[in-house]
Amino acid sequence: MMDRRQVLQLGTALAGAALLPRWARATGDTGTLQPGEFPPGFLWGAATAAYQVEGAYREDGKGESNWDRFVLAPGKIKNGDTGNVACDSYHRYKDDIALLRAMNLKSYRFSIAWTRIQADGTGPANTRGLGYYDRLTDALLEAGIRPLPTLYHWDLPQDLEDRGGWPNRDTAARFADYATIMGRALGDRIGHWSLFNEPKAFTQLSYWQGVFAPGRKDALAFLKSTHTVNLAHGLGYRALKAANARLKVGSVYDVSPHIPATDSPADRAAAEQMAKLSNLWFIVPALTGKYPDGVLPALEQEALLGWRAGDEQVMRADLDFVGLNYYSQTRVAASAQNSGVPGLDVTVDWAAGPDEKTDFGWDIYPQGFYDILKDMQRVTGSRPIEITENGAAYNNKPDAEGHIHDPKRIAYLRAHLLALSRAINDGVPVRGYHCWSLMDNFEWAQGYTQRFGLTYVDFDHQQRRTMKDSAYWYAKVAAANRVV
Ligand code: FCB
Repeated sequence: MMDRRQVLQLGTALAGAALLPRWARATGDTGTLQPGEFPPGFLWGAATAAYQVEGAYREDGKGESNWDRFVLAPGKIKNGDTGNVACDSYHRYKDDIALLRAMNLKSYRFSIAWTRIQADGTGPANTRGLGYYDRLTDALLEAGIRPLPTLYHWDLPQDLEDRGGWPNRDTAARFADYATIMGRALGDRIGHWSLFNEPKAFTQLSYWQGVFAPGRKDALAFLKSTHTVNLAHGLGYRALKAANARLKVGSVYDVSPHIPATDSPADRAAAEQMAKLSNLWFIVPALTGKYPDGVLPALEQEALLGWRAGDEQVMRADLDFVGLNYYSQTRVAASAQNSGVPGLDVTVDWAAGPDEKTDFGWDIYPQGFYDILKDMQRVTGSRPIEITENGAAYNNKPDAEGHIHDPKRIAYLRAHLLALSRAINDGVPVRGYHCWSLMDNFEWAQGYTQRFGLTYVDFDHQQRRTMKDSAYWYAKVAAANRVV
């Protein structure tokens, strides 16, 4: 297997070389793409999320979200940062669309802030809040860009959090009501919808690890939250379809190859178990109505999840497409420490791999992108896949002329796009790619310290936006439909 440096060198070589040996030959390919090439009509895009970019945290009747509350707790967010203003996209969305156009992008993945629609998570829609997404949608369509909204990218109405949040089964029904409102309001103009962003990340980090809102460290609450999200998934899917039968509904999963820290049987077993909990725990119930075996003790599973008769039907969602986010590999070691989850004694480490790291400390492992796509296809079958996030934090600042040189981001993206092109050539049906992120933004517990943007945002000067070198490079890739 190539190591990362070789992959990067190949990427650099590709810039000048017309023809290179086809990777496919080594992998039993059936496709016809040259390395770094993408199929005709491939959708190039960029992604953001409401709490990370919108700001305007109290405008036009918006309610308080769990993140609005969480950021106020001392010590939770680097530098005490908040998303109160963020990139001010609520007022500057036209600038954002101009950036998308300048990068030749045809798809914009954004999320809807539930609290703008239902301030406390229940009841009729707030028309002023809806108005924002109405304007955004129309402006995107006018610019020839497909809107790809995510209903839930982690900002729960605080009132619902106060009533137990995702561990409370009732939240699933509230989510379905909200999905109905959105499908009715925008289903005439938006054809593709995602239900959740990264159910694994937010349930684990919010209720088990305690580092995301609401900061709970309760493994049993975490397990309950996973089941509520799975119920919400099925209910939300049907709510959108009932609102408008033509809608194509998918959901977004963060996936990662889980690599045992050592070759010991214990580490290998831990990696396998954790891979099921992280990569399969949400998509498999949606597609089959069942949880993967071998994660929780079989006899206790129903009680741990709060399972009720008929839930296998409720969870089902025959997704029209699947969104996948990929950043890095995950290293897993067995541990003597009690994880709190019955039957699960593992340590997960995102930074202990042998590879070079991004500024965030995440391993750079493009081969993992290829590997996990091949793995996930065993579950998703022929369903179209969209890459809904991929990118890297590099914190380059403007030089004296105001230019932002971010060669490492270009190298990261190039290497991952080469891996993606290879996976498509080898039969994985990926039809689109969204870089995370269109612009620097509020990076959750890291505040503004980690910059993932193709665009530099000056948070001290009216959120001024400047395209980085990577944005100009990405614009060329999108125009050429191949890695340049
Ligand atoms: C993903 C999140 C996204 C962003 C990136 C860096 O897990 O979905 O909001 O924070 O990581």
